Amino acid sequence: MAIVAPSLLAADFLHLQHEVEMVNQSEADWLHLDVMDGQFVPNISFGPMVIEFVKKVTTKTCDVHLMIEEPSRYFEQFKKAGADHINIHIETCPRLHQDIQQIKAMGLKAGVAINPHNPASLLSDIIADVDIVLVMSVNPGFGGQQFIPNTLNKIREIKKLIREKGSSALINIDGGVTLGNAAEIVAAGADVLVAGSTVFGSKDPLGAIRELKKL
Ligand code: DX5
Ligand code: ZN
Repeated sequence: MAIVAPSLLAADFLHLQHEVEMVNQSEADWLHLDVMDGQFVPNISFGPMVIEFVKKVTTKTCDVHLMIEEPSRYFEQFKKAGADHINIHIETCPRLHQDIQQIKAMGLKAGVAINPHNPASLLSDIIADVDIVLVMSVNPGFGGQQFIPNTLNKIREIKKLIREKGSSALINIDGGVTLGNAAEIVAAGADVLVAGSTVFGSKDPLGAIRELKKL
């Protein structure tokens, strides 16, 4: 059964409490929180302050996705705000191994995120150290984009790498996950599905989460 992580980015921010409570009532496992700085990605979203408020209401695991330059400057703040997982981009971390160890030393799960143009092989020397590989299936920055088909090959390659390196990392897919393509994403080897528009854009978000959970 897939782990399902609705992405709050697609929620109605005027009614954030209501949206978070909807996720509480659902079969979702994690709540995915997209932090964007307008530098690493062209968009700006929200930071630790919003996560702190969300944490007061949510009963789900907070999966924080940092799309920001020099993320290690903010690890402590995100931990304080309530992050359970911190995912950082391989593209933003020249000392990735050190940053991953730092997240784990704080008692959090550590994830490495990888952009669509970067090959699975880039993960080879870090995959045994991480808890999560966050595979971007769109270019990060915006919700509601189309799933990039090559991601399916990449998932299979990462799965192979995980076996070869004796890693216990979960493969999490982020971007363009729909009720139409989720089955083949899971069949390729994904363990976790992030879904923004598919959940919050639906007339029946609880039903959409239930459908994803069936996979
Ligand atoms: C994109 C974010 C995603 C986004 C996914 O940069 O990392 O988490 O919310 O949105 P959908 O599911 O709408 O593609
Ligand atoms: Zn994300």
